[in-house]
Amino acid sequence: MASSRVIKVLPDAESVHGAAAERFLAAAREAVELRGRFMVALSGGSTPRDLYRRLAESPYRDQVPWARTYVLFGDERCVGPDDPRSNYRMAMDTLLHRVPVPVEQILRVTGEATDPARAAAAYEAELRGLFAAEGSARFDLVLLGVGTDGHTASLFPGSGALEETSRWVAASFVPKLGSWRVTLTLPALNAARRVLFLVTGEPKARVFAEAFGSAPHPSPHPCELVAPTDGLVEVLADRAAASRVPRDAGGP
Ligand code: 6PG
Repeated sequence: MASSRVIKVLPDAESVHGAAAERFLAAAREAVELRGRFMVALSGGSTPRDLYRRLAESPYRDQVPWARTYVLFGDERCVGPDDPRSNYRMAMDTLLHRVPVPVEQILRVTGEATDPARAAAAYEAELRGLFAAEGSARFDLVLLGVGTDGHTASLFPGSGALEETSRWVAASFVPKLGSWRVTLTLPALNAARRVLFLVTGEPKARVFAEAFGSAPHPSPHPCELVAPTDGLVEVLADRAAASRVPRDAGGP
């Protein structure tokens, strides 16, 4: 039972998305071969858009075992599925409308619910049903981004959801955004077989250096707390995001 972390710096965002697509395909093929299904949690935000578009095109559209893939979400904004802010809508528009994942294998968070806590509990119940045999949220792959404040999924600094030790899904009010989110918790994220962080662009340089490059900072960022008990964490970054990491510490 061990967690390991690999950090890879690539020339640019396009090469990050290319490497991520290859890892997505490899994880999907391995999961289907070994366990008959591929359980993946998608990230929201803007970084993964181009990865999702690439997965919707050849060769990945034809090579990923979409019929055996179950698509879940690492977090969701508390908005409806057609809202432009919805992570579900972003994934549908860039990927899921364009590949043959059975609709019943796409499980969205009901962000439109008037009670975010009930939406979180309902999502957790679905997850626990899907992972009943494993007894934990044993995703084959969890895609995650990193905010400039070090948040990941919707686990923001200072959030009570960071303290959750048993529930897999939590509702969290984000003061800086003035809005509610539903998010996988650390017990869920840290049950994964594989976590893949995508971090691109100069605006992420400070948080990348702190979270992944050992630059001093007062307290761990939420993204640093993602360390699966028996899984691999891989961080794919472009040179711009890694630009504040000294070369002898793995910087570009
Ligand atoms: C969300 C994401 C969030 C995202 C980071 C980075 O719902 O917004 O799940 O955790 O990954 O905020 O966002 P960008 O990729 O847009 O920088």
